[in-house]
Amino acid sequence: MMRIVVVAGALLLGIGALAAQQDQVKETQAMMKGNGKNAGALAAIVKGEKPYDQATVNAAIGQFDDTAKKLPTLFPASLKGVKFEGDYSPSPKIWSDKAGFDAAIASFAKTVTEAKAKIKDLDSLKATMPAIGKECGNCHETFRVKG
Ligand code: HEC
Repeated sequence: MMRIVVVAGALLLGIGALAAQQDQVKETQAMMKGNGKNAGALAAIVKGEKPYDQATVNAAIGQFDDTAKKLPTLFPASLKGVKFEGDYSPSPKIWSDKAGFDAAIASFAKTVTEAKAKIKDLDSLKATMPAIGKECGNCHETFRVKG
């Protein structure tokens, strides 16, 4: 009897850990999808498809800022080796090159903070977007894998 209780308990713990891992995958992915959406909104303004709108800019930069703050906790060790649903997954390098990943986060955070103070109109948005895009791209190149 005791043994059955222990086994059931261990199973439940396992299920709990798996549920927590799935929640983390969802949170991480939602954050990155939000970044993609906001980057798209800014790109549309830069391309002249949409008029300049400070509220859209503030919302986008605010979300990048939020991402920069959360990035250090978005990829806990429990996600190592986990294949995400969709096109992209985290690279194992996030954990094997932790210093490099932390540096990519710090660099992104710095660029976003600087951008926040700079973007006031279409010209300043056009001048600042490439620096932000470069940060996204740099991290993805090393720490994101396709599939
Ligand atoms: C410090 C690293 C880092 C930075 C900076 C970063 N990303 Fe990501 N991004 C990742 C990793 C790792 C993944 C793969 C895991 C995932 O899909 O959530 C990812 C995935 C994505 C995805 C795919 C999401 C999906 O699964 O559909 C998009 C879109 C994205 N990032 C957009 C951005 C944009 C836009 C920026 C810049 C504003 C950015 N990211 C900055 C690391 C980063």
